[in-house]
This record gives sequence, structure tokens and C-alpha cells, in this order.
Amino acid sequence: MGDEKVIDEKKQGQALLTEKKSKNHKKLFIESFGCSMNLNDSEIVAAILSEQGYNTTQLLEEADLVLVNTCSIREKAEQTIRKRLQKYNAVKKINPTMKVGVLGCMAERLKTKFLEEEKIVDLVVGPDAYRDLPNLLQEVNEGRNAINVILSKEETYGDVSPVRLNSNGVSAFASITRGCDNMCTFCVVPFTRGRERSRNPKSIIEEIQQLVNTNYKEVTLLGQNVDSYLWYGGGLKKNFKNATDIAKATAVDFAQLLDLVAIEFPNTRFRFSTSNPQDMSLDVIKVMAKHANICKSIHLPVQSGSTSMLQRMNRKHTREEYITLIENIKKIIPNCSISQDMMTGFCGETEEEHQETLSLMEVVKYDFGFMFAYSERPGTPAAKKMKDDVPNEIKKRRLNDIIQLQQKHSLFRTQQFLGKTVEVLIEGSSKKSDLHWKGRNSQNVVVVFPKRNENIGDFVNVFIENCTSATLIGKKI
Ligand code: SAH
Ligand code: F3S
Repeated sequence: MGDEKVIDEKKQGQALLTEKKSKNHKKLFIESFGCSMNLNDSEIVAAILSEQGYNTTQLLEEADLVLVNTCSIREKAEQTIRKRLQKYNAVKKINPTMKVGVLGCMAERLKTKFLEEEKIVDLVVGPDAYRDLPNLLQEVNEGRNAINVILSKEETYGDVSPVRLNSNGVSAFASITRGCDNMCTFCVVPFTRGRERSRNPKSIIEEIQQLVNTNYKEVTLLGQNVDSYLWYGGGLKKNFKNATDIAKATAVDFAQLLDLVAIEFPNTRFRFSTSNPQDMSLDVIKVMAKHANICKSIHLPVQSGSTSMLQRMNRKHTREEYITLIENIKKIIPNCSISQDMMTGFCGETEEEHQETLSLMEVVKYDFGFMFAYSERPGTPAAKKMKDDVPNEIKKRRLNDIIQLQQKHSLFRTQQFLGKTVEVLIEGSSKKSDLHWKGRNSQNVVVVFPKRNENIGDFVNVFIENCTSATLIGKKI
């Protein structure tokens, strides 16, 4: 008798569990390609869908809903995503009720074309339409395809608390601006992410507070162009000139925002990305110098070292102005690391212009960089009005030239740390060895050292004994 009761209760429990599972535990598999902002957007999407009873899973095969956050920046990025869709297709054969949605820049760029070209796709959602996901999913569950690619003048997701995905529990992203108004001629981002808007500093501080409460130690402030941050009560950045006098007088710019967060959270390390040279002010550099908890590292994409090329790219500074900016940074923060994005083979690039890029690199000796061969993107000013006339082999050879040179400079920079002690925030075990910790110093260089009794999230001092071009190797002191 007694045993039967136990079995009965067990059965009931299981039934309840299954019911709960079907109601509250739908499984979301979400993956991101491209920039850090996409990663952060996926965290926002996970938060919006958790309200709808979706929990994230790492297992594609068990997903009820698969979302892929896409990147359009180069053709190759789009090809990678198309390949991923083939993989989902194979899984859908085993799990036919699984729904597939495409988010992000490719969704925005291709719109309904996606539904026509990729039969596997049920749902297409642009970067400003994630709040509409619950409605769109309802349509999908009723058997219709759903799409929302409306770009917004206001949307910043300021009140959504992101669900941290694949997190090391130590460092997190917080978006502070969305969109970009710069219209670099080669770039698809203004078309896929819309006009620039800044997020209310109050909601940024609230998000950081939540991160601090849950033991995060480092926050990276994100935007396509963070230095252009400007809060004056909401709305598009370009409308600031028509704002009221009060809104203008109480506006918060990026230097003020940095100062604010560094003071409010003295035990948190701050980074930011990305800076556009044309918008980086001396005030920002001075605020960085003032606070020990703002990392001494600036990602400052330049694309080319040639003024004529910068003009064709519609970058709004010259080679000389860029060099002056670098000199100011180094004067005010001598130990600041500087990294770059470079592009070879943009329309009309001559050998002379390429040599100017190499010579700029010799002047700056960047700590590291992301380097690309130009890839024409449909709809951009360059695709419409300019000729993609540098042959592929030349693009590749020039790319190789700058990669080689960067390699040399990265090693030169890491060697400067030999025999010095650096402060490292421990992020986790080293990829190569479980007996070593991995973390980063203020300059954003990876540091590896033997474990003793430290914990993830500790700040420790490490004496640097050895290095490669990308890693510092040392021991804790
Ligand atoms: N401000 C942005 C830049 C986004 S794009 C940011 O937050 O990083 C990142 C880099 O991709 C650019 O700096 C540029 O070097 C590269 N890129 C952009 N469009 C490209 C294209 N059409 N072909 C090749 N590289 C491109
Ligand atoms: Fe693209 Fe230029 Fe903006 S690279 S993201 S248009 S600053």
C-alpha cells in the first residue's frame, strides 16, 4: 500500500513537471555572429523571451525555437550564416516543430527576401523590433511567417535587463548607443541598425548596478560610435540642435557618462568600444586619465593611413588629425594601448595609399588590430557610386602586408611589459592549460599565469616574465 502511494505521488509529480515544462520551459537556442553589440542584443532577446517562458539551451537538437543573430558587414559573414541555416535545416528534419528565426543586420538588409530565399526561416526580425517578438512568435505558432524590420528613432531597450549568455560571470557588455549616423561609404551598418540614439544614463547606471550586485567586475560600454553618445532626453542624435535650452544645458556627453559611471562604481573596471577618431574628445581622454578604474585601452579604427582614401571613405578626419589625436592620447595617458581596424583594397586604392597605411602603422605601432579586405555591400554609397576596382589578389596581398606588420608591432608592444607587474582581472582557466589562469590587464592584453589559491573575478598583480605577440606570461606576486 505504502509503496503504491509513493509511486502515485511520483507519477503525479512527473505529470505536473511535464505540464510545467510545456508551459514555462520552452527551449530557445540562440547564437550570435558579428560584433559585441550582436552578443548583447541576443542577451536582450533572451530576456524578452524569458518572459514568454523560454529558457535558453546549448543544445540545438532540443530547441523549440532557434534564433540566429546575424551580421552583414562583409559578404563572408553572410555566407557563414547561410551555412548555419543549412545545419538548422538538417536538425529540423529530426525535430519538425522547431521554428527558426533570423535576427539582426542580415534580417534588416534582406527583409522578406529572406523568407523567399531560405525556406527554413519562419521569422525575420530587425535590430529595433525585438520587443515585437512575442506577437511575431504567436503568428509563427499559428502557422504564418512573421516579419518586423521597422527601424526606430527611439528604441534603446533601456528597461530590458539582459539575460547574460555564455558569460564568464566577470565581464559583461552594456549598450549605450544604437545605430550610426556616420555614413562611411563602405559600411552597411547605418542601413541595418538605423539612426543613432543614446540611452538614458539612469537606465545605464541601473544595468551596471545589477551587474555589480551579481558580482560582475568589468563592464564594456558598447556602441557603433560611443564617443558620439549624447543624452538630452531621448530622440535622434541629429535632432539635438533643435532641443530646448534646458535639454541642451542638462545634456550628458560621453566624457560625462564615463566620469559618472567611474565614480558611481569605483570597484568596477570599465572599457568602451568603439571610438570613431572624429568624435573622440580631449575630455574623454582626460576622464580616462583621472580614473584608475577606466581601462587604459582605446579601440580607434582608422581604416587607412591616406587622407585621400579617408575622404573617399567619408571618414571625417585626415591622417594628420588622426596622428595629433594619437599624440594627445599618449601625452595624457602614456601607457594607453591603441588598437585599430584597417581595410585594404577599398575603391581606387593605389599602391601609394597602401604605403601610407603601412607608414601610419609605423608611426602608431598599434597594440593589436582587426584587418579586412574590402567587401562591397549592396546598397551602400560605395556600391552605388564607386567602383570596386582593386583586384582580389592585390587586396589580399595588401591585407597580408598589414597583418605581418601588425604582428611585429603587437610583439613590440607586449615586449614592453617584460619585467613589469600588471594588474589582471581573472576571467577563467587558460584555454591551453587547466593549471593556469587567464585574464586581461588594463591595456586589454591577455595574461596567463599559474594558479594558486585565487578565484575567478579576483584582481591580482602578475609579474611578466615572457610574452608572445598576443599573450603575456607571468607569475602572481
Ligand atoms: N563603428 C563600428 C564599425 C563597425 S564595422 C564598430 O563598432 O566597430 C567594423 C569594421 O569592419 C570596420 O571598422 C571596418 O574596418 C570593417 N568593415 C566595415 N565595412 C566593411 C566592408 N564593406 N568590407 C570590409 N570591411 C568592412
Ligand atoms: Fe560603419 Fe562608419 Fe558607422 S564604419 S558603423 S558607418 S562609423
